[in-house]
Amino acid sequence: MLTMQEVKNHYFFTDNDAGLLRDLQPLVRDNSSALMDAFYDYLLKIPETAKFLRNEQDLQKLKKTHSEWLISVFCGTYDNEYLLTLQHIGQAHVRIGVSAHYVSAAMNVMRRHLIEMLQANYPNIEDRRKYRIAMEKILDINLDIMSTSYQEEELRRVFVSH
Ligand code: HEM
Repeated sequence: MLTMQEVKNHYFFTDNDAGLLRDLQPLVRDNSSALMDAFYDYLLKIPETAKFLRNEQDLQKLKKTHSEWLISVFCGTYDNEYLLTLQHIGQAHVRIGVSAHYVSAAMNVMRRHLIEMLQANYPNIEDRRKYRIAMEKILDINLDIMSTSYQEEELRRVFVSH
């Protein structure tokens, strides 16, 4: 089992990256409603993901959950507790039966919209580049940890059921 420090080392994720992400949090917070609309537009268009979002009351709660995740990506503190949270997120999606494929595709959608947010707010290419690189690292780390615990959870379930 890797520690968060080892994960960060493998992605060349530095304290400077953490600081850059923290700087971005207010911008992400301001844009979170539009970012979530794009995320849900996407999820609602695909029957395999839309089926998890049928109940309007659950939908509002889930939007809040996903929005809180997004803002937490830019929290600036990435320790073992953060790692554990990402593992739990992966396991939660296995538990309800969302295929890992859709989690990866949804991450790609979120990434694209976050990059567009940077394009719109950082006209200076050098500023934009450093924020984008830090952001891509943490999004890849998120997907990596979620996918790994996802696969482990799926394997565990297969063994338990036989
Ligand atoms: C739950 C994040 C993709 C549907 C959650 C939770 C988080 C999260 C933080 C709360 C987990 C917990 O209770 O501990 C993400 C991220 C995604 C992603 C980061 C990819 C970028 C998806 C997709 C779907 C989905 C593609 C498909 C519709 C759900 C549902 C729950 C949930 C239904 C509630 C689970 C439950 O009732 O326990 N997600 N999610 N998520 N997510 Fe996602």
